[in-house]
Amino acid sequence: MKVLIATDKPFAKIAVDGIRKEIESAGFELSLLEKYGEKSKLLEAVKDADALIVRSDIIDAEVFDVAPKLKIVVRAGAGYDNIDLSSATGHQVCVMNTPGQNSNAVAELAFGLMVMAVRNMYNGTSGSELKGKKLGIHAYGNVGRNVARIAKGFDMDIYAYDAYCPKETIEKDGVKAVGSVEELYSTCDIVSLHIPATTETKNSINYTLVGQMPKGGVLVNTARKEVINETELIQLMEERNDLKYMTDIMPAAHETFSSRFAGRYFSTPKKMGAQTAEANINAGIAAAKQIVGFFKEGCECFRVNK
Ligand code: 3PG
Repeated sequence: MKVLIATDKPFAKIAVDGIRKEIESAGFELSLLEKYGEKSKLLEAVKDADALIVRSDIIDAEVFDVAPKLKIVVRAGAGYDNIDLSSATGHQVCVMNTPGQNSNAVAELAFGLMVMAVRNMYNGTSGSELKGKKLGIHAYGNVGRNVARIAKGFDMDIYAYDAYCPKETIEKDGVKAVGSVEELYSTCDIVSLHIPATTETKNSINYTLVGQMPKGGVLVNTARKEVINETELIQLMEERNDLKYMTDIMPAAHETFSSRFAGRYFSTPKKMGAQTAEANINAGIAAAKQIVGFFKEGCECFRVNK
């Protein structure tokens, strides 16, 4: 039984060691493909794999087509928009994620971006503090909840909107649940995005919505670039020079953002939210355990495709 880790953005070594221990002690073989760059290398490596552990790596029909033995793909992380679920189902492959395992890491990075924004990108000028600012958490899932927990330490005034999470769940954490997404943006000084990339959410963060933010508003994106309507955000930032955009997912229009909005736009060069040893260990080992449970006990917990 061959388990392939295919991660263009590698896990920390300590996480790979932990995954290896899980896989080998179950009597399986572990194979490692890191920083592969070209898809052809992935296609070659996956040919005889029974199981696959990935991160944001694109797993599409072409990958499933060349992997006849493949039974399970585990996305070591939360968002599985990089995996073609219907193709997986067509090939009778189970797809899982590892929800919650990297969410503290992503939440901490959101605060790194927030502090950087309110301190004027550390340019030496006088900035402001997070304390007392209104923070809007857009989607109250695992990352959103961690953001709320950390925001309490900063003494922020915390709001959240989630179309699928009951108001009571949000409010029992001491967070104000607002009734609409528009209310979140018009109320909050800083909005932190934690929505997945779905047909419904793609391009949904647009001119009208972000345009409702108060003067000096900061939009923080540690979610997905696809949820941003980049053309409209550029137009809005042209019209409003008080707005800042901080992102952990480099926009397609990065050059335009960085040339036009110097001092109020920042993007990490590579998505860094989940790039910590702790998150890699948590998500990687959870993925390995889920694979062992799947083969040994038929456990399909965290399955995301039908
Ligand atoms: C996730 O969906 O889990 C995060 O976006 C992290 O993605 P990564 O594993 O590619 O860093």
